[in-house]
Amino acid sequence: MKIETDFLVIGSGIAGLSFALNAAEIGSVTIITKKEDKESNTNYAQGGIASVLSPNDSFENHINDTLRAGSGLCHEHAVRFMIENGPAAIEKLLRTGVEFSKTNEQSLDLIREGGHSRERIVHARDYTGREIERALLQNVKNNSNIEILENHIAIDLITEHQTVGRDYSKGIHCWGAYALDVENNKVRIISARVILLSTGGCGQVYLHTTNPSIATGDGIAMAYRAGATIANMEFMQFHPTSLFKEGSDAFLISEAVRGYGAILRDKDGNSFMKEYHKSAELAPRDIVARAIDREMKRSGEPCVYLDLTHKNAESIKKHFPSIYKRCLDFQVDITKEWIPVVPAAHYMCGGVVVDMKGSTTIKGLFACGEVAFTGVHGANRLASNSLLEALVFTEPAVQEASVYLKITKLNIPDILPWNLEGTFNQDEWVYLVHDRHVIREVMWDYVGIVRSDFRLARASRRLDVITAEVEEFYKKTVVTNDLIELRNIATVSQLIVRSALNRKESRGLHYNTDYPQRDDKLWNHDTHLSQSVI
Ligand code: FAD
Ligand code: SIN
Repeated sequence: MKIETDFLVIGSGIAGLSFALNAAEIGSVTIITKKEDKESNTNYAQGGIASVLSPNDSFENHINDTLRAGSGLCHEHAVRFMIENGPAAIEKLLRTGVEFSKTNEQSLDLIREGGHSRERIVHARDYTGREIERALLQNVKNNSNIEILENHIAIDLITEHQTVGRDYSKGIHCWGAYALDVENNKVRIISARVILLSTGGCGQVYLHTTNPSIATGDGIAMAYRAGATIANMEFMQFHPTSLFKEGSDAFLISEAVRGYGAILRDKDGNSFMKEYHKSAELAPRDIVARAIDREMKRSGEPCVYLDLTHKNAESIKKHFPSIYKRCLDFQVDITKEWIPVVPAAHYMCGGVVVDMKGSTTIKGLFACGEVAFTGVHGANRLASNSLLEALVFTEPAVQEASVYLKITKLNIPDILPWNLEGTFNQDEWVYLVHDRHVIREVMWDYVGIVRSDFRLARASRRLDVITAEVEEFYKKTVVTNDLIELRNIATVSQLIVRSALNRKESRGLHYNTDYPQRDDKLWNHDTHLSQSVI
């Protein structure tokens, strides 16, 4: 049941796979992933990757756009590092076999998205993530130093707390993870000296989200329980435009569609974005999402509309084949009809605090990708900077991890077996389904695009009760995938609410009607949360 490896990578999106390919040059790598290998936020990414590749662009332009979107909270040195290393990261993806869209002259086709002052988004039509995931997975599968275990969900990280003797005298280290092998219903110990958290985001804590079902914030919750520092959880990004169809999961309508010239309209056909920002449809995401929220509240309508009908039909189909097809499934022909859209939870700007080399506050535990907090996004992420961040920061993380592996030479202590004492198979699982739904509703209703102290306090009280009940249920029950996720959704929701309650101002993605102004004197800093485990 036990597995030993040099590098344990938790998650198989762009961050986990990129890290694994680099780490495999140094030692053995085991990737665990909770569903099918390609299932990840990465696989659904549409718009592309932002990078400075045009002679009409410059690093300074991209840096300034990123800092402007981030509303004063970006860590400038991290932003600079990410942007200056962008072109090399794109080059590396091309060598890996990713096929990006090209112009007639065979150079990379660069498009524009909200908040960007130049055309700089590299893309594969409107299915960029799927293409990246395909190429990276193919390379991983061809690498004999990498083993990938599907349907293995990490339950908790192993630190001194789960070792014989619980000796904390040398600080807190991560020694691996307990993972549920879902198909065989067995908990396995996977031990390693280097552990990478690359578990992605947490959009599923909200009722309406562009994220697939895997995005339950497991990495953030596990790291928090293990004692790591977490930052800026109040900054959940809502994407302005997801397809509105009652009763069905949100489907993203890429920002590239607005970059291509689509216009936001109310039901009477009035375009409204100019009232909110001089860049209109191409304003930063927080502004567009809030404007749509405001228009919906003003009109009482359940959605607004995105209009592409003034564009050439064949060209629309060529640029946005997936969006065209998906909308057609819902009887919306985007070449002839306006697309009904609403904002949906999309991206977590906060996460597990890491330094410039991917190290968390726990020794041996690294984090990359959406789960990590490098500081590059500040209070609002600029479109298409996420895939870039995941790619660029995995390189120094692997370098640092390999140094850690070589110099520490620490012996992994004896790890306690998974404790089944006092647990049994419940005969009623309806609580789980119900609790998951209630948490997501509470988060959507009270901790969404526009917040207030009253709403946040109400959410906090409700979440405290549910979380205590979930924890109680968890202690008594044989673990399952759904229970692990519910526990993590509950924890992450609480972290978001605590961070939001703490910040008494409005900035970027956090808008509180009780403090509608940005307050640089008191709040020009990150929010940190951690719990003492020793
Ligand atoms: P993910 O790609 O989400 O991978 C996480 C992995 O961890 C998955 O394999 C998951 O199964 C696994 N996992 C999670 N928990 C566990 C656990 N407990 N045990 C084992 N495995 C686990 N960003 C851009 O820059 N450009 C875009 O165009 C863009 N478009 C987007 C469109 C959509 C619809 C969405 C949802 C996001 C988009 N983003 C985009 C954001 C971007 O895709 C993500 O931030 C990025 O892909 C995250 O990569 P990752 O490797 O960190 O995580
Ligand atoms: C999109 O295509 O609109 C998503 C881009 C992003 O999230 O960066």
